Amino acid sequence: MNISVILLSRITEIFRQHFGVPAFIVRSPGRINLIGEHTDYNLGFVLPASIDKAVYIAINKRDDKEINLVAVDLNESFNTSLDTIQYTDKQWPNYILGVVDQLQKKGYILSGFNAVVAGDVPLGAGLSSSAAVECATAYALNELFVLELTKKAMIQLSQKAENEFVGVQCGIMDQFASMFGKKEQVIRLDCRSLEYEYMPFDTLDNQIILFDTGVKHSLASSEYNLRRQECEAGVAIIQKKYPQVQSLRDADMQMVNTCLPAGDDAIYRRCKYVVEEIQRVQDACTDLIQQDIASFGKKMFATHEGLSRLYEVSCPEADALVTMVTNHPAVLGARMMGGGFGGCTINIMKREKIEELINIVTQKYSEQFGRVLKTYIVNIDNGTSLV
Ligand code: GLA
Repeated sequence: MNISVILLSRITEIFRQHFGVPAFIVRSPGRINLIGEHTDYNLGFVLPASIDKAVYIAINKRDDKEINLVAVDLNESFNTSLDTIQYTDKQWPNYILGVVDQLQKKGYILSGFNAVVAGDVPLGAGLSSSAAVECATAYALNELFVLELTKKAMIQLSQKAENEFVGVQCGIMDQFASMFGKKEQVIRLDCRSLEYEYMPFDTLDNQIILFDTGVKHSLASSEYNLRRQECEAGVAIIQKKYPQVQSLRDADMQMVNTCLPAGDDAIYRRCKYVVEEIQRVQDACTDLIQQDIASFGKKMFATHEGLSRLYEVSCPEADALVTMVTNHPAVLGARMMGGGFGGCTINIMKREKIEELINIVTQKYSEQFGRVLKTYIVNIDNGTSLV
């Protein structure tokens, strides 16, 4: 049986045991990002897609102000009230409560609700399970309370929930990809205007495979917030000479070289990476239009180099996984994906060599790190919707 069918019957059954019949179930997927890393909060371009691994939320309304939540995969529950919403050390409820908090702050009137959450997005693997939970919640509450929010409003609200309630200063990419994803298409998103277009991604000959480092870095969110501050510091310096520069999107390498001391300076390296990456995404989109996946893949390797050496958000495991596939004729592109400090590498591989490559990399990874490598074969699927 299909995994999503199993998940759906499980979530419905658990909902029935706790709360009766759900009003409906919402599916919201995890995401991959082909290229354009750490460019979203610098108002550049990204090229993500939603995948065939998702979070499901079953929900119904209550007459009182209670919020009752059950996380099937963690076998945990959490209860609170609309009047006493606050951050909890349990973590997982925060992605739901953060969205409720944002809605209440915006003046929307809600009643209590029951919700059961389950899914098959691997946790802490950099596939944005948290954004998927936020988008699923926003979409479900919008339906349940007929709030008439647009998809863009739901995304912005979800991002704000993560920024303000969870405390990670993330950009808009993950929520956008989860909500707006489309089967077999990648999304070219301009993170400044939020204009976007779908571009076909050839999965006939090539397969997207993720290698999970298994590293869940505890510094990830604080280092992430620090990178964001370093970029802002770079903009403040460049602005003194070029007042038109409001974000690194507006800067070019000539400005960076003129205003910042080259070499070892951290701010210089962060800005260099971002300015180059924003350009790389645009060039990579041209490759896609020309169906030149080989050139596209080379840019992924270049992104990895920049993320590892200039932006310094990789880790030895991700570097090793990329090195293992570099120069392999069946691997078109590979790089670390997402915020960094662990999580997955994303690889584009020729279909006929998948099994062979997975075996080689798994073997090498276990020799080098003494750990079993998890691999995920992912397909590009539709974004958030009612089931
Ligand atoms: C995380 C954030 C995104 C984005 C990526 C890096 O996934 O949530 O907003 O900044 O890191 O590209």
